[in-house]
Amino acid sequence: MKNINILAIESSCDETSASIISDGKILNNIVATQSVHEKYGGVVPELASRAHQQHLIPVIHEAISTAGIAREDLSAVAFTRGPGLMGALMVGVSFAKSFGYALGIPLIDVNHMQAHILAHFIDEPKPSFPFICLTVSGGHTQLVLVKDYLEMEVIGETLDDAVGEAFDKTAKLLGLPYPGGPLVDKYAKEGNPHAYQFPLSEMQGLNYSFSGIKTAVLYFLRDRLKEDADFIAKNMADICASVQFTLIKMLMQKLKRAAREHKVKEIAIAGGVSANSGLRAELNNLAGELGWKVYVPKFEYCTDNAAMIAMAAHYKYLKGEFCELDVSPIAKMKL
Ligand code: KG4
Ligand code: ZN
Repeated sequence: MKNINILAIESSCDETSASIISDGKILNNIVATQSVHEKYGGVVPELASRAHQQHLIPVIHEAISTAGIAREDLSAVAFTRGPGLMGALMVGVSFAKSFGYALGIPLIDVNHMQAHILAHFIDEPKPSFPFICLTVSGGHTQLVLVKDYLEMEVIGETLDDAVGEAFDKTAKLLGLPYPGGPLVDKYAKEGNPHAYQFPLSEMQGLNYSFSGIKTAVLYFLRDRLKEDADFIAKNMADICASVQFTLIKMLMQKLKRAAREHKVKEIAIAGGVSANSGLRAELNNLAGELGWKVYVPKFEYCTDNAAMIAMAAHYKYLKGEFCELDVSPIAKMKL
């Protein structure tokens, strides 16, 4: 029987990525990161679309040529349909349609958030169903009950900012370049997490709120800077460690509650913020304490990448879930 070979494309935000999957095995994962946004302190949607236009063909060319698979042997082309920036998504969707049409192969539309979760099936060990996945990125913070590959239920989520945004906004207030999350993580390693106290938000049920901490950090810095203009430079590590400690505490409180309420001990994390070393360490502590089995993706599969899109597309292919050529992106696509 012919292999199932899928080309997958990711272009939802500021990474242009392509990957080839063959019979469920990822052959490569080519990622071009857009540095153009750094000086603006955040992703500029218009610039993201243009950079995708520039990077997409070279990235796809590299994926196809290094996979050792001829174009004619591709079974389908998959793409991120949403959620994401509309203009950025359009670049990937339009390419996928033209490519699929030219080769006469089916199209597979993938939900970016579902793909972040399915990144857990790229390598061993793989979680068993049902498991709870805490998806933490620059745009989302969700607790998802994963019942099967393509059967997922959001049981809790942020009602305002995503936790990645809280990391990035804190970094911006500290004068760190975008995206600041990894830098806060880096400084936090050297600091005292109990140096300063920030309020924990109290949301109902399994929901989160991260907008308060941004304001708390803003006022905290304003007051301290009045007394000492060098306060940030002198205390960078302690500030980062304290903010990170608070954010992780909030994440873990609801994750523990979700695991208890749904009687699940298989716990996964996904999304860009799952690269955070403090979050990983805390998760491992809880695993020992509560008997959880914890799954953390490899670094390269935490941030946006096409391998996760390819993995999701493989499961959709097996179920015969294809889409039509008149498909369009959905910026606020739900899980
Ligand atoms: O999933 P992702 O690559 O893109 C979105 O779909 O949003 O996540 C990006 C987010 C950014 O907010 C970035 O600052 C954050 O993930 N991030 C981190 C770390 N690495 C990436 N936040 C904290 N610690 C890290 N090590
Ligand atoms: Zn993402």
